[in-house]
Amino acid sequence: MKRPVKRSSTRAVTVSVVRDIEALLEVWSVRSLVYMGEQDCPYQEEFDGNDLAGATHLIARVGKEPVGVMRIRWFADFAKIERVAIRQSHRSGEVSAALVKTSLDLAARKGYRRVLGHIQARLLKYWLRTANVRLRPDRPQFNFSGYDYIEIERDLIPPDGAIGLDTPAMVLLRPEGDWDRPGVLERSQTRSRAR
Ligand SMILES: CC(C)(COP(=O)(O)OP(=O)(O)OC[C@H]1O[C@@H](n2cnc3c(N)ncnc32)[C@H](O)[C@@H]1OP(=O)(O)O)[C@@H](O)C(=O)NCCC(=O)NCCS
Repeated sequence: MKRPVKRSSTRAVTVSVVRDIEALLEVWSVRSLVYMGEQDCPYQEEFDGNDLAGATHLIARVGKEPVGVMRIRWFADFAKIERVAIRQSHRSGEVSAALVKTSLDLAARKGYRRVLGHIQARLLKYWLRTANVRLRPDRPQFNFSGYDYIEIERDLIPPDGAIGLDTPAMVLLRPEGDWDRPGVLERSQTRSRAR
């Protein structure tokens, strides 16, 4: 999924699924700037052991420059959106809205019907506006890394063609989020079979 989200007099913003180590380094750079630099989060808390196991990262770029990131973790019946971080130079809504929308679209396409978020309590208005979420009732506030957190959720409607058990094999084999164009394994079909 590589989505042009903004055309302005300057340069377009694109949001992509992270698929290689270099892009992951860009994600970690933005998170270091924002969470460690701005919010004084200790390294061990920001890099919490959940970046590689079961997570998909999204990156927003202007040209080649990474300007915003977020992470989605996949559980049995819900997806959890996390670690949204926008470089100060690119705040104002557009980049973050594009990232959040891409994360929700990706989760819906994967067949998820529910998204969970643990958000900084002070940002509730932002989340209500940006992601059309609701506050989870009867869930306690908690805190970590110096901030109060609350739980939000939202329902998703998987689109036609959502990924499922009966998705054609060659579609399922395509790179995460890039299910609408032929992947490298389809091209391999023209090669003669190995014995
Ligand atoms: C939260 C964030 C992703 C939003 O980015 P954005 O959409 O480009 O928008 P802005 O930063 O301009 O802020 C959006 C809203 O959040 C509010 N906000 C942002 N930072 C805030 C802060 N430190 N304290 C209180 N409110 C804050 C803004 O006041 C604004 O509210 P408004 O639109 O009602 O005026 C971005 O501010 C960011 O990266 N923050 C640091 C990382 C972070 O806290 N992530 C969220 C964890 S739940």
